[in-house]
Amino acid sequence: MIKVLIIKNVHKSGIELLNKSKDFSYEIVENIETDFLKSKLKDCDAISLRTSKFTKELIESAPKLKIISRHGVGYDNVDLNAAKKKKIIISITSNSLAATVAEHVFFMMLNISRGLDAYDKSVKEGNFSSRKNLALSKELWKKSILIVGFGRIGKNLIKKCIGFEMDVLVYDPYVDEKIINELGGKKINDFYEVIKEMDYVSIHMPLTEKSKNLINIKVLSTMKKNSIIINTSRGGIVNEMDLNEALNKGMIFGAGLDVFEKEPPDINNPLLKNKRVFLSPHTSTFTEECTERMGKETIQNIIDFFQNKLDQSKIVKL
Ligand SMILES: NC(=O)c1ccc[n+]([C@@H]2O[C@H](COP(=O)([O-])OP(=O)(O)OC[C@H]3O[C@@H](n4cnc5c(N)ncnc54)[C@H](O)[C@@H]3O)[C@@H](O)[C@H]2O)c1
Repeated sequence: MIKVLIIKNVHKSGIELLNKSKDFSYEIVENIETDFLKSKLKDCDAISLRTSKFTKELIESAPKLKIISRHGVGYDNVDLNAAKKKKIIISITSNSLAATVAEHVFFMMLNISRGLDAYDKSVKEGNFSSRKNLALSKELWKKSILIVGFGRIGKNLIKKCIGFEMDVLVYDPYVDEKIINELGGKKINDFYEVIKEMDYVSIHMPLTEKSKNLINIKVLSTMKKNSIIINTSRGGIVNEMDLNEALNKGMIFGAGLDVFEKEPPDINNPLLKNKRVFLSPHTSTFTEECTERMGKETIQNIIDFFQNKLDQSKIVKL
């Protein structure tokens, strides 16, 4: 019997896949304290993992573990060296969420640009006639956008941008120009020059030593005063204190963040009180549809692995 530990529950349609199979047993745990998990990991063959940290200590307490199936596509919560050393593979739910995150980017861009919250508030508070005094909002139509990182999410986002007739520029040194052109974008090489001209910037690359603090005060100070930056990727790529300063000094118009350097962010993080920033609590994928797809894919990846048919593209190259 193959034993699966589900660390924090997944959608019931994922669990149903395990219920249907005679080869698997499973246990769902919500407690993520190290000692508790260590006791559960002793005889596990596979785990399903959401966003909690999976440390060297936990990996070393799981002698039978063969696969860490991430419920998502990021894997910065796993100690990769320890996993590699023990030849444990990490799989991701690469088919489930690109369209959902790209939709969240549009939700943020439209909300910030069109001032939705102010409109809604004015009507509900009986200030309908204040419409004349509200600041005019901004259109996305025919504006420029720089997509930074052109993987699964970037490639989905461009389709939505083209639908809005936006001028799409792409910064991703690892993606061929032909692929970008075929989808209607233009590849750029000089990130620092191009970002100065952009109306919108949306970040879709992983957090690495290279991308950490990529968007800092030096870069923000060169951007257009009416520009808007969105980060649904990973906290830390946009420096939060620098962003707060740039917004307060009017260097840029607004920002949307779904991810933070520290999650949850400190209650005294100044961005939490900044009216020019629109925040969501790492919920870009939190739709009914995506949650179901991700739950199923997370579990199916485990089943496929043990049946020797897991698609290679879903395995993280360590
Ligand atoms: N907010 C959320 O809930 C949420 C959900 C899904 C994914 N994410 C995050 O979004 C990011 C993108 O996800 P994806 O599925 O599109 O990943 P992906 O691996 O398909 O694409 C990432 C792209 O970034 C590019 N890249 C890497 N380093 C770069 C650099 N220094 N400069 C420019 N480009 C670089 C790669 O070439 C690749 O094309 C990941 O960091 C992921 O963790 C967040």
